[in-house]
Amino acid sequence: MSVPFIDFSKQNEIIKAEVDAGWKTVIEKSSFIMGPQVKTFETEFAQFCGTKYALGVNSGTDALYLALAAIGVGPGDEVVLPAHTFIATALCVSYTGATVRLADIEEETYNIDPKSLEKVVTRRTKVIIPVHLYGQMAHMEEIKAFADRKNIAILEDACQAHGARYQGTRSGAVGKAGCFSFYPTKGLGGWGDGGAVVTNDERVKHMVEMLRDYGRSDRYQHKIKGFNSRLDTMQAVVLSAKLKHLDEWNAMRQKVAAVYREELAKIGVAAPQEAANREHVYQTFAIRVKNRDKVMDGLKARGVGNLIHYPIPIHLQEAYADAGYKAGDFPVAEKVASDILSLPMFPHMEVAQVKEVVQALRDSL
Ligand SMILES: Cc1ncc(COP(=O)(O)O)c(C=O)c1O
Repeated sequence: MSVPFIDFSKQNEIIKAEVDAGWKTVIEKSSFIMGPQVKTFETEFAQFCGTKYALGVNSGTDALYLALAAIGVGPGDEVVLPAHTFIATALCVSYTGATVRLADIEEETYNIDPKSLEKVVTRRTKVIIPVHLYGQMAHMEEIKAFADRKNIAILEDACQAHGARYQGTRSGAVGKAGCFSFYPTKGLGGWGDGGAVVTNDERVKHMVEMLRDYGRSDRYQHKIKGFNSRLDTMQAVVLSAKLKHLDEWNAMRQKVAAVYREELAKIGVAAPQEAANREHVYQTFAIRVKNRDKVMDGLKARGVGNLIHYPIPIHLQEAYADAGYKAGDFPVAEKVASDILSLPMFPHMEVAQVKEVVQALRDSL
């Protein structure tokens, strides 16, 4: 039996009738850009996250960039983020003209290590971006206490953690703002690109609203030099339909993770750790393996999907060669990048599929 890395066909089936009806309305009214369905989704998503506001934008990358711009980050500022993340977290900082300052991660959760912050932060640090990687939130209590003490803003990169909780609070609701991606493979994914900024801060909300719409303050007035980064109405319809099921689908992911945990224990492979007071939503199920290339080949030969998130830390990417870092600067991030491996994970994954993956893994090891 082959097992795909992700299979959302059941999800798509569940929401199809609602999306068909919603899209029909959008087409009839030609309300493709900023139609009323965008506002509806924003209201629903803010409520889901437990924030006052949610603003739909073009992608998770744009969400991060516009949120940084709204906070006032620019040339001369420094922004701290983990060395082990998707490159978009760093790119959005570079777009603002600010400097990327990297920190090492905790091996237990793969998230930014709060203990590393003291070494990295300077007088110029304006924002810390904790990335809630793979579906588990970073250690927000320690990070927030540190940031508050230093008067630094927190911008949460929640692009991989829709619905995750830390001490009961949803991702995106702890910092000054939180950013989400609705890329199709995400926990809440559209049928195309999309993203959102959530916040309780009136000023950030107002700035993102202008920034995503050419800097417009009303129809013909442009207060600032903004961009074009809006969430398509068609995507808002899909996202509203999926959001109704998100808690249930996250619970299904947790059940899949529990089966993995049991099966992996039998072959002596460690499952991801769930830190105290956190609710992991398993957007990605990542394990650690020696001889990764060989294992990946073995899984591939058995038709088991697998990917690496991520094999090269930010400081070793060519795009950041000018940042002045070198191999050895972030030992935990480098170690994790060398042996991390993502196995198939999706809400409707069956027990037999999990068992097949683990069998194939055992044989490949
Ligand atoms: C951690 C992280 N940050 C940012 C992004 C960027 O989101 P998008 O692909 O929607 O631009 C992603 C997703 O790809 C991500 O996983």
